[in-house]
Amino acid sequence: MAVDLSTTWMGLELDGPIVAGASPLTDNLESVQRLVDAGASAIVTQSLFEEQLTDDQMAFFTHTEGVAETHGEALDYFPAYDDVALGPDAYLKHIETLKKAVDVPVIASLNGITPGGWVRYAKYLVEAGADALELNVYYVASEPTESPEEVESRYLEILRGVRAAVDVPLAMKIGPYFSSTGHLASRLAEAGANGLVVFNRFFQPDLDIEELEVKPALHLSHPSELLLRLRAVAAMYGRVDLDFAITGGVHDVEDVIKGLMVGSNTVQMVSALLKKGPEHLKAVREGLVTWLEAHEYESVEQMIGSMSLARVPDPAAFSRANYRKILGTFHKY
Ligand SMILES: Cc1cc2nc3c(=O)[nH]c(=O)nc-3n(C[C@H](O)[C@H](O)[C@H](O)COP(=O)(O)O)c2cc1C
Repeated sequence: MAVDLSTTWMGLELDGPIVAGASPLTDNLESVQRLVDAGASAIVTQSLFEEQLTDDQMAFFTHTEGVAETHGEALDYFPAYDDVALGPDAYLKHIETLKKAVDVPVIASLNGITPGGWVRYAKYLVEAGADALELNVYYVASEPTESPEEVESRYLEILRGVRAAVDVPLAMKIGPYFSSTGHLASRLAEAGANGLVVFNRFFQPDLDIEELEVKPALHLSHPSELLLRLRAVAAMYGRVDLDFAITGGVHDVEDVIKGLMVGSNTVQMVSALLKKGPEHLKAVREGLVTWLEAHEYESVEQMIGSMSLARVPDPAAFSRANYRKILGTFHKY
């Protein structure tokens, strides 16, 4: 019997657990087609940023929408959305194009850090055909006067704004730097999130010590970055009412298996695909089938959460007890 690779992500039925995460690869129809041919079970488009949704742009949409609601024919007096050569318009077109071209779910990504009118744009993404949304609050807290509670409220308020605008499945993509990720995740679930994407990679600037400049640096990920994510999802699976997707450090078949075992419904790949090309996803998917068959699994579902903190025989291995033990194993040579 063939192994069943299917999984669900926030209620969406997916024919496999490997999703193409937000990146320039999903910005382009040709590479999206290659990703889907290689077995990507959903596509997350590169983010539309709050900064692109300027006040003018929002005013335009509010204005035309208001007119359309009262006098349908009056729309002729206003430029069509297509005539506005701005990012947001091209973004909507891209979603429409992808929806026509591929038969896997298309997840649109909104990216911003302030609560405000821009979140209403979520509605247009759904109208353009997005099956679900990923909301990336890429907020780099750097004010010593800002409390953790204020930082978390920011996330919740933005989420509530988007939730009020749409009723499609909604995932939050967050970073790893919270005192209690599980607690925040539960609050996000209460505020209407259906999934958590674990974790943003913060692009950390380096210093040029000769030129005395801060150098922005974009490095692709390393598989070792997966470990942080594995632990976080293992601790939340079955205890927080959200679906999970791991992003960060998923490069090969073992990474996919580990992500699923800790409780991720799907894993997202980006860096490995940028490095090796979309077809790498096919090799990973085939490797997954081979591994599952060799280990007598019937399905991916069977594997999800099997090594989460709630289920693993030695939960202490995820915690402080293990930290003390591991320090004791280090010997100088
Ligand atoms: C060039 C590049 C562009 C990216 N653009 C976005 C983006 O627009 N929105 C977003 O949420 N994540 C974006 N990401 C982050 C990825 O979606 C992903 O979360 C991250 O790279 C970790 O996964 P990986 O280890 O598989 O690369 C980008 C990453 C890269 C390398």
